[in-house]
Amino acid sequence: MAFYVTTPIYYVNAAPHLGHAYTTIAADVLARHMRQRGEDVFFLTGTDEHGEPVAQAAEKQGVTPKELADRNAARFEALMPQLDVTNDFFIRTSDPRHVAHVQEILQRVHDNGHVYKGSYEGWYCTRCADFKTDNEIGPDNTCLIHEGFPLERESEENWFFALSRFQEPLERLYTERPDFVLPAVRFNEARSFIAQGLDDVSLSRAHLRWGVEVPWDPQHVFYVWFDALLNYVTALKFARDGADLTTTFWPATYHLIGKDILKFHCVYWPALLMAADLEVPRRLFVHGYLLSEGRKMSKSLGNVLDPFDAMDKFGTDALRFYCMRDVSFGQDGSVSPADFETRYETELANELGNLASRTLAMLVRYRDGTVPEADPDPALAGDFDGLAERVAALLDDVQVTAALEEIWQRVRRLNRYVEERAPWQLAKDEEKAGELDVTLRSLAEGLRVVAVLLHPYVPATTTKLLGALGSPDLDLERARYGAAAGGAAVAQLDALFPKTPAP
Ligand code: ME8
Ligand code: MG
Repeated sequence: MAFYVTTPIYYVNAAPHLGHAYTTIAADVLARHMRQRGEDVFFLTGTDEHGEPVAQAAEKQGVTPKELADRNAARFEALMPQLDVTNDFFIRTSDPRHVAHVQEILQRVHDNGHVYKGSYEGWYCTRCADFKTDNEIGPDNTCLIHEGFPLERESEENWFFALSRFQEPLERLYTERPDFVLPAVRFNEARSFIAQGLDDVSLSRAHLRWGVEVPWDPQHVFYVWFDALLNYVTALKFARDGADLTTTFWPATYHLIGKDILKFHCVYWPALLMAADLEVPRRLFVHGYLLSEGRKMSKSLGNVLDPFDAMDKFGTDALRFYCMRDVSFGQDGSVSPADFETRYETELANELGNLASRTLAMLVRYRDGTVPEADPDPALAGDFDGLAERVAALLDDVQVTAALEEIWQRVRRLNRYVEERAPWQLAKDEEKAGELDVTLRSLAEGLRVVAVLLHPYVPATTTKLLGALGSPDLDLERARYGAAAGGAAVAQLDALFPKTPAP
């Protein structure tokens, strides 16, 4: 089955921060998991390079928008391998191939009669590049998304997209597909936005040059959000030379986004697709905000955690684990360097790291580095029964934190099992050799299963661990207790998560 997952494309008006890494890591967890299931995966991320926010930032820095875009897009692109993210393509909206496809699709929207010339006056946020409706305006005409940022009164004569005409089709979509948007609280938010009544939206800007030229009126460029949203479709048309991936991968399985851009994705985007005679995506998942010092982490507030710093200190896998573990995906939650360090010590080093090093060390010491052939202990079978299916079902609904918790319960179970069985005691008694075989075989097998399941979260660690266990196969079918035969040759490993990480 085809599985197409996307992240938002990120603005290049500043450097990447932990918020950007966050969505991308979650998408990577899904992509990796689906590959383990044998699905045909396409995973897209990239940068949103046009529009006012970028043009303004460039002007401030005294460079051209293209120079700023090139510089910062390179930083986002470099972030991906550092995060161990396996995106299949990285789209940049300044790519002429994207531009050409945007023009073609929006020309169709025009020709289908959904575009007209009009004028509009309202409160505008230059950071959001968006006119605000009454309930999106904070005290003293400020932006609610960019807390306290002053809005500007703007009026414009330009091209409009007749969004209001899609009120009924959108209401029908939300009625027919109660899981179109997850979690349910975001579905309700989107639906009530639609129910309040939709205004037409500006499709072009006349006073801006940094954008995609409107083919039927070259004095205008498209409003950046329309150019940006279309990336999810245009990328499929040129990501692979000579192949149009649309037939395989459209409609997208999942768009992952933060709640700051819900309106664009859950309301404008399906309407635009309908207007262009294209299918709407299957589902969207809207996650919450990472908070720092009690407020949304954002470049405008200057309270961002630098993902590069965190990875230098604790490693990529630790960052990935922390992001998926500490804040329940979908909700808002605080993150801090101190919490990160605590989870690193207590969970990665003490729980997973110790389990791995103890298990491997005992196999080497007591059984010459070979997993015994004994049958695994039935006492653990119940703990693993149905686990892979449960994890898969949770990940089908993008419950990345809940799925990780399911797996982590088994890491803890295995640590308790070590304590219960005390293999170092069994090893002292010749008559207990059979029991020791069963214990070590069960630990190796349990550890192997959790490693296969944890792979999407901590890929480098689990690759090392499965290699050391002599059982590198990642197929999800293998994530059953007892699926591997005994007899594998194991090797000792350095600590997976050293106690005092490199500074
Ligand atoms: O909105 N917590 O780009 P952007 C969680 N270019 N996620 C966060 C976050 C935080 N504190 N801060 C950022 C744009 N994010 C547009 C998108 S899509 C067609 C165009 C993540 O650079 C989250 O995914 O402002 C959020 O939706 C996205 O970064 C916004 O990135
Ligand atoms: Mg933003």
